[in-house]
Amino acid sequence: MVWSTDEKVAKFCSWEPYTSKDDAINFIESIETKFLRCKAICYNDRAIGCMLLFACSLDDKSRNKSAEIGYNLGSKYWGKGIATCAVKQIVKDAFSEMPHLERLEALVDVENVGSQRVLEKAGFHKEGVLRKYLFMKGKSRDMIMFSILSTDLQL
Ligand SMILES: CC(C)(COP(=O)(O)OP(=O)(O)OC[C@H]1O[C@@H](n2cnc3c(N)ncnc32)[C@H](O)[C@@H]1OP(=O)(O)O)[C@@H](O)C(=O)NCCC(=O)NCCS
Repeated sequence: MVWSTDEKVAKFCSWEPYTSKDDAINFIESIETKFLRCKAICYNDRAIGCMLLFACSLDDKSRNKSAEIGYNLGSKYWGKGIATCAVKQIVKDAFSEMPHLERLEALVDVENVGSQRVLEKAGFHKEGVLRKYLFMKGKSRDMIMFSILSTDLQL
C-alpha cells in the first residue's frame, strides 16, 4: 500500500492509485500469471516498492530471449539511490537465473526524467524515442527504449 496508493508513483504508470486493500490483494494474486519475477523493494523490513520482470511477448517466440523490467517506489523514499540499487540487482539476478535471456529492456515516458536517470546509472543504453508509442491516461506518449544485454555486463 506504501507505493500503490501514491499518486506521484502512478503518474507515469498505466494503473491508477489503489483505493483499497482489495486492489492490492488482486495485484498480489495475479503476480504468478503476469510476471517472470515480482519482488518487493524493502527498507527496514517494510515493502516500499516493487521490481517487476515480465515477458516482452507471450506469443511471439522471436522475442523470448528478451524481458522487460518495471519498478515503483513510494515517493517518500525517492532520491536515495534505492531504485538504482534495485535495478542493478534485478539485472544481475535475471541474467544469472534465466541464462536464455540476452536482453532486458525498459520503456520510459520522455517526461519521466528520474526513471531515465536510474536506467543510465544502472548501465542501460538509451536506444531511441518511440514516438506516440503508448496511449495512457488520456494521451499518446513518446517513450524512450532502454536496454542492457547480458554481454554488456561482461565488458
Ligand atoms: C523512478 C523512480 C523509481 C526513481 O527512484 P529513486 O530511488 O528516487 O531513484 P534513484 O535515487 O536511484 O535515482 C534517481 C536519479 O534521478 C534523478 N532525478 C529524479 N528526478 C529527477 C528529475 N525530475 N529531473 C532530473 N533528474 C531527476 C535524481 O537526481 C537521481 O540521479 P543522481 O543520482 O544522478 O542525482 C521513482 O521516482 C518512482 O518510483 N517513480 C514513479 C514510478 C515510475 O516512474 N516507475 C518507472 C516507470 S518506467
